[in-house]
Amino acid sequence: MRALTANPSETIEGRARVPGDKSISHRALMIAALATGQSTIEGLLEGEDVLRTAAAMQVLGAEIERGPGTPWRVWGRGVGGLIEPGRVLDMGNSGTGARLLLGILASHPLTAVLTGDASLRGRPMARVTAPLREMGAQFFARDGCRLPLTVVGTRRAAPISYTLPVASAQVKSAVLFAGLNAPGATRVIEPAPTRDHTERMLRTFGAKIDVAQGPGGRAATLQGQPELRGQSLRVPGDPSSAAFPLVAAAVLPGSRLRLEGVGINPHRTGLIDTLVEMGAGIEMENRREEAGEPVADLAIAAASLSGVEVPASRAPSMIDEYPILAVAAACAQGATVMHGLAELRVKESDRLGAVARGLAACGVEVEEGPDSLTVHGTGGRVPGGAVIETALDHRIAMSFLILGLAAERPVTVDDADPIETSFPGFAALMVGLGAKLTAP
Ligand code: S3P
Repeated sequence: MRALTANPSETIEGRARVPGDKSISHRALMIAALATGQSTIEGLLEGEDVLRTAAAMQVLGAEIERGPGTPWRVWGRGVGGLIEPGRVLDMGNSGTGARLLLGILASHPLTAVLTGDASLRGRPMARVTAPLREMGAQFFARDGCRLPLTVVGTRRAAPISYTLPVASAQVKSAVLFAGLNAPGATRVIEPAPTRDHTERMLRTFGAKIDVAQGPGGRAATLQGQPELRGQSLRVPGDPSSAAFPLVAAAVLPGSRLRLEGVGINPHRTGLIDTLVEMGAGIEMENRREEAGEPVADLAIAAASLSGVEVPASRAPSMIDEYPILAVAAACAQGATVMHGLAELRVKESDRLGAVARGLAACGVEVEEGPDSLTVHGTGGRVPGGAVIETALDHRIAMSFLILGLAAERPVTVDDADPIETSFPGFAALMVGLGAKLTAP
């Protein structure tokens, strides 16, 4: 456990490239492991979460190689070709790693045991085991369907049509991954559309997957047992990581920042839309496509922000960005009201509670509802001067460090190590742009 302090800072200036997208990195390794032949992956996020997925796919029989300064290379085993693991699969802190892998394992005739760190062992898994049971897999778990958990996959997976009860790209992806080794069409219907990286990447590897808008929502239909072929990919920069330097630049007067090669998938840009509504000047320049995903360079200059009302319908497109939005809101003029936040309670920590407590400790007026948050902005620097408990949550740590830059007194996070799960090099990158981060 390593504490880190953010000291009041002046401006954020310069240009930078954030690490690869976490969601896309997990999917690239998993799908490459289910393809035939070689895949090369450039820009893979080399954070703890993704390294756990790489290690798991190796134990399941994929060959994975990484040379210094070269792209990752994966030799897959083909759809349905993974082998039974000889040890427990420890997915660390990663809900995405665990839930997506359960989908893959559900339609393989093997037995596997998954576990994770204290945060992941507290997170609900029934949301994926329920549809995967319908497809024929069996799960044995302790009370509340938490990890550690045993999956007994099936040789004869049944394709299903499943309507998501919660807006979750992880659940959608788990069902589609299980459907890869089921005969016929597996369909997932989403009343509220979530990130579509799985659909895009499966298509890139050669799967047939149709997306249609129907009365019940957006339906993604996958034809089972495709031949996935190895690909060469470049993973875009993670917009959820870009969010931290972006907000720092938005709230520190006089800042100017350019972030190169950031993914701008429309299911991920809710924070940018909200910051623009609040008055931030953000440009998306040099738009292009990488790995079937839209990418741009983001240019931002500081502006004075005003509070807004963020509708629940926007939550899926910024689900991981509420903690950092709350920081922007704390520095804005007036109240920002965020709705539809129930899912934040089951992330790496109870993020709604953690954000409300942390902001209050930093002298910001907040109101926490069961699934909403109201932040009364100061219209300038916040008081700060608190020690924040990270609770194994990388985004809580990074958010409060950004708050400390815009505070009157330093803000310390008790444990900065979890930042490694998604944003290795966060502190060095921020310091390079002008942030005053120091050991306490
Ligand atoms: C993710 C989906 C989201 C998000 C998570 C990554 C993914 O989770 O919070 O960080 O890669 O599919 P949910 O599916 O639980 O909303």
